[in-house]
Amino acid sequence: MANRRLAPASEQPESFAFTQENAEWAKHQIAKYPEGRQASAVIPLLWKAQEQNGGWLPQKAIEAVAAELGMPKIRVLEVATFYTMFALEPVGRFWIQLCGTVPCDSCGARELKGMLEKRLGPPGHVSADGNFSWLEVECLGACCNAPMVQINQDYYEDLTPESLSQLMDDLAAGRPVKIGSQTGRTSSEPQGGANTLTDETLFDGSRVGAWRKRFEQAKEGEGAEATTPPAKTGEAESATQQAATAPRPAKPDAGRPVERTASDAPAQRAADGEEPVKPEDRADAAERGQSIAKHGSARPGDADALDSPAKRVAEGEPAAGEESRQELPGRDIPPPPPEATGASEAVEEKLDSAPEKK
Ligand code: FES
Repeated sequence: MANRRLAPASEQPESFAFTQENAEWAKHQIAKYPEGRQASAVIPLLWKAQEQNGGWLPQKAIEAVAAELGMPKIRVLEVATFYTMFALEPVGRFWIQLCGTVPCDSCGARELKGMLEKRLGPPGHVSADGNFSWLEVECLGACCNAPMVQINQDYYEDLTPESLSQLMDDLAAGRPVKIGSQTGRTSSEPQGGANTLTDETLFDGSRVGAWRKRFEQAKEGEGAEATTPPAKTGEAESATQQAATAPRPAKPDAGRPVERTASDAPAQRAADGEEPVKPEDRADAAERGQSIAKHGSARPGDADALDSPAKRVAEGEPAAGEESRQELPGRDIPPPPPEATGASEAVEEKLDSAPEKK
C-alpha cells in the first residue's frame, strides 16, 4: 500500500497560491456546482494545484484549496491522502505509478516492480538525475492490458521489464514513445488481434441451428450404433479382456440398501403359519429360567429374566402377565385423583380457617 504522508517540512514550500490563470480556471470549476455544493470541486482544484506545483501537492496547496472552497482543512487533507493520484512528496520529471493489483500482479507486475526497485531504488524517491520516481498503486482500470503503469498522465500497457526499461530510456532521452499497449494491440482488443469479425462462420449462417445439427447427428449415430456394435478401443477393450480372464462375482446390492424380510421375527413366522417362537429358542429360554431359579439370582444381564416374556412363553404362559394386564385401567375409566400430600392439606386447612371477606 502506498505511503500517504505529507512530505517532510524541509521539502514543503513556504506558501502556495494559484496563478491568475489557474485561479480563473478554479472559479469556472466551482461555478459548475449549485450554491452550497462548492466542496464538490475539491478534486479538480487539488489536481490543478498539483499540476501547478510540479506534480505534487504541498501542505500549503491543500490549505489554499480548503480556503477557496470554504472547507475544513482536514476534509481536504482526507481527500488528498486517500487518492494516490495526488502525490504528497516531490516526484521526478516522470512519475511512474505501477499497478500492483491482482490482474496486473498475475500478469507480471511483480517483475516490473523488481526492475523499478533495481533501477530507481525504493518507491517515493526521486532518481539522482531527477527524471524518475515511482509508486505502487491499486487498480488503474486497465486490467485488460495488464501489467501496466501510468507515467504522468498517460497509460503504458502490456509491459515487460524490458519494454518498461526501454520506455524509460526513451522518455529520459526525449524520444517519442507509444502510449497504450506496447505489444501492438489496439485498446483492449484480444491478444493476437481482433478476429471476431474475420471468422466467417459468425455471419455466413452456418452457426444458425448448429445445436440442432449436432443433435441430429448424434441421433443418427445412435441409430448406427444400434445395428453395428461400436468398435472397442483403448480402455474399453482392455476392460473387456480383463473381465474375460479374471471374472469377479457380481454384487447386485453393492452400495445399495436392501430390504430383507425379517423371516425370524415372531410376527413373520406367525404370518407364514409357523410357530411364533422357534422350539430351540423356547428350550433356551426354559433352561435360562431354570438356571436363575436354581442359583437364586440372575446372571449379569438377566435382571428381568425371572419374569421375562421369553420365560413366560417358554413356560406356555402369555407373554404379558395376567396381573399386569389387569392392573392396566381401561381407556374409558378416568384415572384416580392424586393422593393429597401434606403440603396441600396444610394449604386447605389454612383456607378453611381464614376469615371470610365481607
Ligand atoms: S489490476 Fe492493474 S489496471 Fe486493474
